Amino acid sequence: MAADLVIVANRLPVDRVTRPDGTIEWRPSPGGLVTAIEPVMRANDGTWIGWPGGTEQDLEPFEADGLHLVPMSMTPEEIEGHYEGFSNGTLWPLYHDLVAKPEFHREWWDSYVGVNRRFAEKASEVAAKGATVWVHDYQLQLVPQMLRELRPDLRIGFYLHIPFPPAELFQQLPWRRQILEGLLGADLLGFQLPGGSANFVRLVRQRVGHKTHRDLVYLPDGRTVRAAAFPISIDAAGFEELAQTPAVAERATAIREALGNPRKIFLGIDRLDYTKGIYARLRAFSELIADGHLDVEDAVFVQVAVPSREQVEQYRILRDDIDRLVGRINGDLGRIGRPVISYLHSSYPREEMAALYRAADVMVVTPYRDGMNLVAKEYVACRFENDGALVLSEFAGAADELRQAWLINPYDINGMKTALLEAYEADDKTLTRRMKAMRKTISQHDVAAWAASFMLELGDSGDGTHAAPARAAKPS
Ligand code: G6P
Repeated sequence: MAADLVIVANRLPVDRVTRPDGTIEWRPSPGGLVTAIEPVMRANDGTWIGWPGGTEQDLEPFEADGLHLVPMSMTPEEIEGHYEGFSNGTLWPLYHDLVAKPEFHREWWDSYVGVNRRFAEKASEVAAKGATVWVHDYQLQLVPQMLRELRPDLRIGFYLHIPFPPAELFQQLPWRRQILEGLLGADLLGFQLPGGSANFVRLVRQRVGHKTHRDLVYLPDGRTVRAAAFPISIDAAGFEELAQTPAVAERATAIREALGNPRKIFLGIDRLDYTKGIYARLRAFSELIADGHLDVEDAVFVQVAVPSREQVEQYRILRDDIDRLVGRINGDLGRIGRPVISYLHSSYPREEMAALYRAADVMVVTPYRDGMNLVAKEYVACRFENDGALVLSEFAGAADELRQAWLINPYDINGMKTALLEAYEADDKTLTRRMKAMRKTISQHDVAAWAASFMLELGDSGDGTHAAPARAAKPS
């Protein structure tokens, strides 16, 4: 059946996992993208094209939990070249301020082009006449142009979930022009922050030579492309509701008890990624214990590190570094039954996350660079009693909206220590004032509002010859 709304993302919202006994299980995929898009999909009866993880070939379209899913297979070579290579060994570090060194390999690029072409072909097969196709993220930046060539009748949107870097960094990429032209196949390009869209427009003017005016790019074929900021958000009401359930409340109490009911619990939850600043954050906390500013009887740091991209070398090195650091800190500073850091290398369902958010007094989110960071927003959504403190990196997109957090520079360990201590010592009145303001922001700008504004804008952009745009999810 042809679809009026097609989502194209590197990953399906579910991963295919083969159990030891050979049976198949579908598990929710990691990362913020899935959480953000799923409600829009449901509201539009849309079709989602993506990779289900693994190397299984010839998978058939299927329904999971009421969603129409079209799985794209990847060969081991494509996983190595497109996914681990160009997407996560080249683009990811390049777009995140060179926190790690990007590698440029021509074979990785060829693989990226090949996979983008296959995704574009699949989208052109499943999209109905005049349909809306919404392409997502850095793994698929060539799809808009490829798809437009195949299907000029479509309305095409693209959203980048990670930062778009300044020209000074982006222009290192040997294939910079192809990426810019690939993106310009869309009618509307969405970025997390105005800085990202401004970087893009400037690069298009400088490197491709198209005329631009503010957020518009004028193409020689008469098309106009808009590049604007649409800061992504979460299902705030859904998280709050979950946090209020008796099961989550009980679990939060149990977590506090298991930790020995310390005065305050600090919490970090991140994919185990070098952009997240986990190492420096744990060092900052451990120094507060070592200096005697905090005592292990009063404070504990719970760090959840969700396994991620484990075949990529930089991620393996990071895992070893963190394992060693945690071992050393606990060995040097812990007491019996009182580790300084309670470290968990695992992913958890939403219920457990909500319980952790409820149990934590200070949420610590300190990435060196992050498109948005939905964990920071989820924490705020779960603090329905207007308490709890958020320590947040200035370099996370979320810092633009969550101004009442304790904002820190993650490269400044002493500054981070001061903020952690201030957040620990803050009185109830201060906490309430800050949390209330942040909660107001999140409830007004939830994921439904984000999707609605992108869809509305996509409906208005382009040359106006398309069918009516898809509906956004109902505001929650
Ligand atoms: C970030 C990216 C997503 C990605 C997710 C998980 O949120 O923006 O595109 O899916 O990380 O990473 P993975 O490599 O496991 O898909």
